[in-house]
Amino acid sequence: MKTISNGDTPPKAKNIVWHQASVDRFKRAEVRGHKSAIIWFTGLSGSGKSTLANAVNMALFQAGISTYVLDGDNIRHGLCKDLGFSDFDREENIRRIGEVAKLFLDAGIVVLTAFVSPFREDRNKARELVGEGDFLEIFCAADLKVCEQRDTKGLYAKARLGEIKDFTGISSPYEKPESPELIINTGEEDLDDCVNSVIEKLVEMKIIKPIS
Ligand code: ADX
Repeated sequence: MKTISNGDTPPKAKNIVWHQASVDRFKRAEVRGHKSAIIWFTGLSGSGKSTLANAVNMALFQAGISTYVLDGDNIRHGLCKDLGFSDFDREENIRRIGEVAKLFLDAGIVVLTAFVSPFREDRNKARELVGEGDFLEIFCAADLKVCEQRDTKGLYAKARLGEIKDFTGISSPYEKPESPELIINTGEEDLDDCVNSVIEKLVEMKIIKPIS
C-alpha cells in the first residue's frame, strides 16, 4: 500500500484564472459524430495493453473516429522521462497521463491509454478527474504466468535475476481493478475478439455509433 502522494498539492502559481474555451467537447462531438472518452487499459507488462490499444485505435481510425494512443513506454521517452518506477514516480506518471487524457477528452478525441498503472488509487484519481461515463477502465487480464512466458522485451528474465528492481508482478505489486468497465482475457482471447469487445462497449456506452 502506498503512503505517499504527490498529486494533491494546490497549484504553485498564484494569480491564475481559468479561461473558458470557445469550442467545447460537445460542439466537437456534434461536428465529428462521436463523443470523446478515455479508454484506460491497465494490466501487467506484456499483458497486451499496447497491442490492444493500437488495434482498437486502427479500427476506430478506419471508421473515421478521432483517436489517439498514449503509451507508457513511449511517454516515458518524453513527457515522463524524468520518472522511474518507484511508487512515487509511478503515481506522478499516472497523474500526468490522467491530466493529458483529460485534455484529449476536451479536444473531442477518443484517447486510449496503455499504462501498467498498477495502483488502484492512482487509476481512481484519473477517473475522478472526469465525469461519469467519460472513463472506461479496461483490465487486460493476462496473468503473470502468461506475461512472463511471453516476456516479449526480456524484462521478466532480468527482473527475476534482480537486474531490474521494482518490477511489477515480481518485486512491485499490481492491484487488479475492482470494478472495471471491461475485463478482457488478453492471455487467451484472439486479438480481433478483444478489439470487438472494446468496440461493442464503446457502442453500448453511446460513445460511438456502431461501425461496420
Ligand atoms: S506505470 O507503472 O508507471 O504505469 P508504465 O506503463 O509507464 O508503468 O511503463 C511500463 C513499461 O515500462 C513496461 O511495459 C515495461 O516495458 C517497462 N518497464 C521498465 N521497468 C519496469 C518496471 N520496473 N516495472 C514495470 N515496467 C517496467
